Amino acid sequence: MLSFILNDQLVSTDEHPGMVLLEFVRDVKCLSGTKEACREGECGACTVLVGRRQPGGGMVYKACASCLLPIGDVDGCHVVTVEGLGGGTLTLVQQLIVDHSASQCGFCTPGIVLSLTGFCLGAEKISYEGAVDALDGNICRCTGYAAIRNAARALCEKLGGMNDAPAERLAALIGSGVVPGYFGGIPARLAQLRAAPAAAAKDAVLVAGGTDLFVQRPEQLMESELCFLSKRPDLDYVRVEGDVLRVGGAVTIEDFRLSPTVRRHFPALERDFLLHSSAILRNKATLAGNVVNASPIGDATIILLALDARLVIAGEKGSREVPLSKFYLGYKKTDLACGELVSEIVIPLLPAGARYSFEKVSNRTTLDIAAVNSALRVSTSPDGTITDLRISAGGVAAVPLLLHLDSFKGRKPDAAAIEAIAKAAEGEARPIDDIRGSAAYKKLLLGRLVRAHFAVPAVAGEAV
Ligand SMILES: Cc1cc2nc3c(=O)[nH]c(=O)nc-3n(C[C@H](O)[C@H](O)[C@H](O)COP(=O)(O)OP(=O)(O)OC[C@H]3O[C@@H](n4cnc5c(N)ncnc54)[C@H](O)[C@@H]3O)c2cc1C
Ligand code: FES
Ligand code: FES
Repeated sequence: MLSFILNDQLVSTDEHPGMVLLEFVRDVKCLSGTKEACREGECGACTVLVGRRQPGGGMVYKACASCLLPIGDVDGCHVVTVEGLGGGTLTLVQQLIVDHSASQCGFCTPGIVLSLTGFCLGAEKISYEGAVDALDGNICRCTGYAAIRNAARALCEKLGGMNDAPAERLAALIGSGVVPGYFGGIPARLAQLRAAPAAAAKDAVLVAGGTDLFVQRPEQLMESELCFLSKRPDLDYVRVEGDVLRVGGAVTIEDFRLSPTVRRHFPALERDFLLHSSAILRNKATLAGNVVNASPIGDATIILLALDARLVIAGEKGSREVPLSKFYLGYKKTDLACGELVSEIVIPLLPAGARYSFEKVSNRTTLDIAAVNSALRVSTSPDGTITDLRISAGGVAAVPLLLHLDSFKGRKPDAAAIEAIAKAAEGEARPIDDIRGSAAYKKLLLGRLVRAHFAVPAVAGEAV
């Protein structure tokens, strides 16, 4: 049996853990404020908040797409739909939406309200730019984004002084009418719940963020035993040991992106990972899920390939380590046996004299898979000679590609060498014609992205 708090009510249910939360709140609980539209994580109409109690007793709330979120994943959590916000009165966010005429048909509005409320609860600091980023997964088809942004700006102005850590902000947010008073009692109520441990069966389907799985095969998952990695806090860490960054197999893209450790050692990743899907997906999607999904254009995969990452794979017989460059055996085929789990991703820190960059071309900035993406890690000696060169390329072969460029070591990255590297990259690419573009277009794009890597200026002391 699963138990969680839905708005102000304790819920216990025998529904299958693979039922998505959207279906549960609408069809089982008859809470129709959460809207159903794309059912593929693309629009944000179904956004809800999921709050998890932290070991110290505080809460962390994240806005998530409920259409891709199985109820097994919210066992022991606080789930907030729009019905759980205001009750009889409008919350501050809702009032500002009204004041700024930021809603017309209203279909997107509950999702927008929840994303902005999640931003108030969870953002490191309250800033207009942060509020706009928090809305990157919420599509509105009739109001126009200017009015929505105006409401977000007014919200940040009203909460401007509130820059204490998210965990210490709750009382002030209740006082400002952002969330109702019952939120204050949630940690103590959750402490009474006993969430079931992660399933241990060898053939259980591993569910990390579920953002690939629940798009691809939701019906099948309703009949399978599921193992939720969100129930494995031992796999939720980012730390530096010696000259490597160690990232647990359950770390979400957003936690990785905003990790102080990642910011210190790979500052550019905070910006680059904003190009991965949208906030409501990054809050659930994991780095390891992106790697194991084996899409030839996974953004995290392409970045990790250039950074020379290794995977720690845990199975019945112990652990083994595999370079990511050897992990892909064919289209969507990996070196992962039944019952094995990617428990850790190991990323070498940038050596002295090295820099990194990532480029992605997609039809729109957020919420879009790349047509072609590419990452670079290049090291040069003090005289500017290339000592190490790794360029990865996505969308141009059946697997994420690491280009063979060793012959350029020892050369200086002058215009002639960059041109030759771009041509070599185009030569290795074997793209196919598909919905994202013709093979010829993708080859051309890869050449352009390679040139763009070298056009990025290096900032002193920073990986670019
Ligand atoms: C609207 C939308 C937009 C998207 N945009 C992007 C984008 O811009 N860029 C991009 O790269 N991707 C994008 N994606 C794809 C997806 O979000 C990512 O691939 C994500 O990182 C997958 O991670 P997950 O944790 O959700 O994986 P899941 O769906 O949970 O799992 C994927 C697969 O990996 C397995 N798995 C997961 N974790 C482990 C583990 N630790 N060990 C072994 N097996 C494991 C699962 O069993 C499953 O087979 C998008 C998806 C959607 C729906
Ligand atoms: S229904 Fe569109 S994101 Fe869930
Ligand atoms: S108000 Fe109609 S879709 Fe946003």
